[in-house]
Amino acid sequence: MSAPLPAGLPAVHRLEGLPTRVRIHEVGARDGLQAEKALVPTEAKVAFIRDLVAAGLPVVEATSFVSPRWVPQLADAAEVLAGIADAPGELDRHPVLVPNAKGLERAFASGATAVAVFVSATETFARRNLNMTRERALEVAQEVTATARGAGVSVRGYVSMCFGDPWEGPVGLDRVTEVSAGLLEAGCHEVSLGDTIGVGTAGHVQALVAAHTAAGVPVDSLALHFHDTYGQALANVHAGLVAGVTCFDASAAGIGGCPFAGSATGNLATEDLLWMLTGLGIETGVDLRAVLAAGARMTAVLGRPSPSRVAQALG
Ligand code: HMG
Ligand code: MG
Repeated sequence: MSAPLPAGLPAVHRLEGLPTRVRIHEVGARDGLQAEKALVPTEAKVAFIRDLVAAGLPVVEATSFVSPRWVPQLADAAEVLAGIADAPGELDRHPVLVPNAKGLERAFASGATAVAVFVSATETFARRNLNMTRERALEVAQEVTATARGAGVSVRGYVSMCFGDPWEGPVGLDRVTEVSAGLLEAGCHEVSLGDTIGVGTAGHVQALVAAHTAAGVPVDSLALHFHDTYGQALANVHAGLVAGVTCFDASAAGIGGCPFAGSATGNLATEDLLWMLTGLGIETGVDLRAVLAAGARMTAVLGRPSPSRVAQALG
């Protein structure tokens, strides 16, 4: 008889050439919740973030200081930050999204010490998500980045619609590298390349990372942000690992989407990413069981089961 499987963890077999350590950038409380129609109580958001920190996630994006008219779910951004800021330096690990100077002002007033700016690689989504042209959105993000850096606040950059856009179709590699380079030049410490609607496949990931290298953007300044709409997220992470990327965004319980891109479903589930990385012997410092518990508590609040395959298998 074969030995029983270890309790809830895969056997470890390394694959030659992959990184030995990966940073998971947890986006459940922000990207995960932003598209939820029913308002999630602030205390449940704070508890979710605290659970994720306790699970060992090094970065847990907290919320967005976007227009509360555009995203009512995150209108309690200041209260969420107040609920998690109980130690000096604590907010360094909780970036908040800011779309413009007004958002940065509100983030500063709430004590944020890490922010993220976001620009679409495509024209249509720039207008639908930010009510600006793509060019203006990049300028605004650059201005916000310069102001934040001047105040000693770290800035992450996001590029959305890097693989395909529901209105414009496939997105050219250079449309993405232009925006990434612009964000890094302005002072972002890293750029996360978003597959907002989850249409990318592994070869496209490889080509996009290679296009960045060719454009002078080092691979260690890139993160990858996959939505799992077409079931490609883990294959795409694997392609990213092969290309040398060491930061991946994920959302506990696979919650998420974008209210301004109807075809965006949940983010890659943190639990599923952890299963794969654990099996590959890649260190993350994150406790899978604790993430499962955090995700289960949030899906109970949302009133629906987790789409994470690992959560379903171990739940
Ligand atoms: P607008 O309506 O054009 O704004 O929205 P405006 O500048 O014309 O101002 C209108 C009113 O909004 C004014 O108030 C402003 O003060 C106020 P009034 O004078 O009428 O009383 N206002 C604000 N209030 C609070 N916070 C602010 C703010 N800015 C203006 N920051 C705006 C433009 C950019 C504000 C809007 O389009 C917006 O908030 N967009 C954000 C949408 C969003 O959150 N999308 C999802 C995040 S991106 C994403 O999910 C992708 C990602 O996950 C990666 C991936 O998957 O690809 C990152
Ligand atoms: Mg997203």
